[in-house]
Amino acid sequence: MKKEWWQEAVVYQIYCKSFCDSNGDGIGDLRGVISKLPDIKELGVNCIWFNPLYRSPQVDNGYDISDYQDIDPSYGTLDDFKELLELAHSMGIRVVMDLVLNHTSDEHKWFQESRKSKDNPYRNYYVWRAPKENGKEPNNWGNYFYEGRGSAWQFDELTGEYYLHNYSWKMPDVNWEYEPLRQEMYKMMRWWLDLGVDGFRLDAINRLKKPAGLPDSKMPPAPPVGIYGYVVDRAICTNVPGIHEILREINKNVWSQYDIMTVGETGNLSSDGALDYICQSHNEIDMVFHFEIGKNANIITVNQYKETQQRWIDLMKHNAWISQFLTNHDSPRQVSRFGNDKEYRVPSAKMLATLVHTMPGTPFVYQGEEIGMTNVYFDTIDDYNERYTIGKYNTMIEAGVSPEKALGKLRDLSRDNARTPYQWNDSANAGFTTGKPWIKVNPRYPEINFEADRKSPDSIFEYYKKLIQMRRDHPAIIDGNFRFLMMEHPQMVVYLRKCARETLLVVTNFSDDKIKIELPQEIQDFTWERILTNRADTQPSLSGRTEWLPWEAEVYTLSE
Ligand code: NOJ
Repeated sequence: MKKEWWQEAVVYQIYCKSFCDSNGDGIGDLRGVISKLPDIKELGVNCIWFNPLYRSPQVDNGYDISDYQDIDPSYGTLDDFKELLELAHSMGIRVVMDLVLNHTSDEHKWFQESRKSKDNPYRNYYVWRAPKENGKEPNNWGNYFYEGRGSAWQFDELTGEYYLHNYSWKMPDVNWEYEPLRQEMYKMMRWWLDLGVDGFRLDAINRLKKPAGLPDSKMPPAPPVGIYGYVVDRAICTNVPGIHEILREINKNVWSQYDIMTVGETGNLSSDGALDYICQSHNEIDMVFHFEIGKNANIITVNQYKETQQRWIDLMKHNAWISQFLTNHDSPRQVSRFGNDKEYRVPSAKMLATLVHTMPGTPFVYQGEEIGMTNVYFDTIDDYNERYTIGKYNTMIEAGVSPEKALGKLRDLSRDNARTPYQWNDSANAGFTTGKPWIKVNPRYPEINFEADRKSPDSIFEYYKKLIQMRRDHPAIIDGNFRFLMMEHPQMVVYLRKCARETLLVVTNFSDDKIKIELPQEIQDFTWERILTNRADTQPSLSGRTEWLPWEAEVYTLSE
């Protein structure tokens, strides 16, 4: 079967702000990325996804766009971008942009016009509502960043109405019901695609449709913002009936006319509703990022991990494709969250990568994973930057929580864990900038950095290279069917990948424990040869193996 290019791709996600600063202003930039393209190429990935690069006041690090058709000056110029695009293409690397269609910055010219008067031609580009009789917000929705006292509505004196902002008050939601807005968005997308970009990661894409009548959330108000009567209900504006019509229309008008990849960020989507978005015959989007693994407040168990993977992989039987990732710029670092960033940092980073790269679907690597970067844990809220951590902290303090307790609750999950500067070497600021970095560098940089990893005989980067190469050499990884073995085991994650040409066996220990167990008889009856391991000190054949080291990961081929 002919595969689409994005089914064979390995995608590297670049958070430009924190990647490499070329001009000493403390902010990563496009010329910095250009200087590192050879390293990205060496890793073996063949696609880059950039977090938003557009002109923006940077309230939410670029997810608040004030001009969709320009590059933010802190990152460089449109010419820098074009140069990067051409260079990347010449190296066989595609480039995917992050596209925010749910909201803009309040500094976008559409919003500036929209707020001027009720009959401004741009008024309906956004969601405006009159106050209730008592002057209050039109409904009880809370914003996802816990800003102010939590409402998702901001009153605008000029016209005496409220506008909707599901995220920051600086990020008004746009109104997809309004045809002229839709046409503007299509025009803008075509402009990027005509420039040569290879697709979009679609921010908050299942939130474009709002529920009819914008009814109150029925969820019980919970502290901290519950005390003011607001409810942070992440479900109420997601997967609302009508969303699929919107996506099909965009697909028909824009995406289907180019050879591109679209991957939607879909919070609050379970495997149940996913086919509606990703079944290829529905003509909507190619893949989604779901958060059934990565975003739960409680770390999931290994059994839950397997069960979740199984449900999503099953969708592939219905003419659909999935993504594989554990973390991104909105989450803690994967080795800290799912692995052990202390005594088993290196093996657990490699073991987690093994899962991402050998399960069915397209793997996404978040910058820094390939050298095992870890969470940061700042001591004071003043060192944090991201809107959600700060908003939630402030509302918790107002609700009477102590600063230590508030910080303690937020640190593990803060999105800033993933946003500290890339650690290139052990020089000042980890070699990220010659200036003052926009956010503090992780203090572990003298030990954990690109240069040190590249010199290490136990290099994580080298292991990623092997994994990515293995994907090209072994068709079963992309095409093969999938079957878990020992499904019930609470620590071992073991599975087969099988296509007409070969069978692969992946054996991993998802724990700090040494596990004593024999693999199932059906495996033992064959001869297996190891093609990859994250532990140099174990025997290369499976026969008689009964013991698995903490975070061990191995891949075998079956030889007849
Ligand atoms: C999801 C993005 O990944 C996140 O970083 C951003 O804050 C929100 N959407 C709002 O755009």
